[in-house]
Amino acid sequence: MSETDNVKKPSPESIQEAADLLNAGQLVSFSTETVYGLGADATNDVAVASIFEAKGRPSFNPLIVHVPSIDAAKELVEFSPLALKIANMFWPGPLTMVLPRRDTCPVSKLASAGLPTLAIRVPAHPTAHQLLTACKCPVAAPSANPSGQISPTTAEHVRDGLGDKVSLILDGGPAEVGVESTVIAVTDEKITLLRPGGITREDLEKATGSEVAVASKDSEITSPGMLLSHYAPSCPVRLEAKSKNEGEAFLGFGPGSEDFETLNLSPKGDLKEATANLFAMFHQLDKTNAKTIAVASVPNAGLGVAINDRLKRAAAPRG
Ligand code: TXA
Ligand code: MG
Repeated sequence: MSETDNVKKPSPESIQEAADLLNAGQLVSFSTETVYGLGADATNDVAVASIFEAKGRPSFNPLIVHVPSIDAAKELVEFSPLALKIANMFWPGPLTMVLPRRDTCPVSKLASAGLPTLAIRVPAHPTAHQLLTACKCPVAAPSANPSGQISPTTAEHVRDGLGDKVSLILDGGPAEVGVESTVIAVTDEKITLLRPGGITREDLEKATGSEVAVASKDSEITSPGMLLSHYAPSCPVRLEAKSKNEGEAFLGFGPGSEDFETLNLSPKGDLKEATANLFAMFHQLDKTNAKTIAVASVPNAGLGVAINDRLKRAAAPRG
């Protein structure tokens, strides 16, 4: 996408401008490897409140706080030995950990919805890293889309969805992973998966040698921001579709639907490619004025768990 007054490619000047805007309490959207974030200085109550206002979030769900390094994270939250091991293995990257806030943690209580814990992440995208280093403050950032709608994987999606509600959009190109980070809670010895995402449960179990429990409604720790209807295009979504009905757009996966598909998440059936395409293709199909978006079934293993999680919410009854 070409540069405009409030969409800029990352450069030393635009990164510094974005950092200055954050420090002045403004909202800045920036690339991460998962989806584009809508960032504010996490220590500034008013700036954090303006995130909820810009997104039109119905309630004050807790947000993820982004920092440039493990050392910066250590100033905000307490790491158990297991949490530190995971940080060393997966950061920077598409993983968020929910950990106890330190007594001295300067992050606005609004960002963590008054909880004693904080969700924290060190993103890998160079633009995010440069911005977090330049602004010298932790940055609270949900995905940069109006509440409930499809998450943005390009600067154009952010501009179309939030337009003039952000002071600056740093355009670091299309997001490579394409879905939000995996969110886990880590206590002394236990890992609980709160939101499936760019790092799979199998990745975590293999790397840590620990079992990863999956949060349920009855779990001790839950993810308060996981609304059932979310990531939704403007028209209804039909899942497990095998064919295309009159007036529908068909989103395929793998071979077999060439004759009638509108788009295909991955013609060769590759889950990584499908994850990267998911939100961008939803954005594209949303513009076709289709009556319904019909989506082929996607295997529910590995990255397919995150894809199916997002599809289920996109198809859920709207609140
Ligand atoms: O990929 C991502 O994670 C993107 C990019 C911008 O980093 N960010 C993102 O943030 O998706 P957000 O705020 O939309 O997602 C926050 C998720 C929600 O599911 C929320 O419930 C959970 O993290 N969460 C945040 N703080 C929590 C806490 N203290 N305890 C449990 N869950 C928490
Ligand atoms: Mg979101």
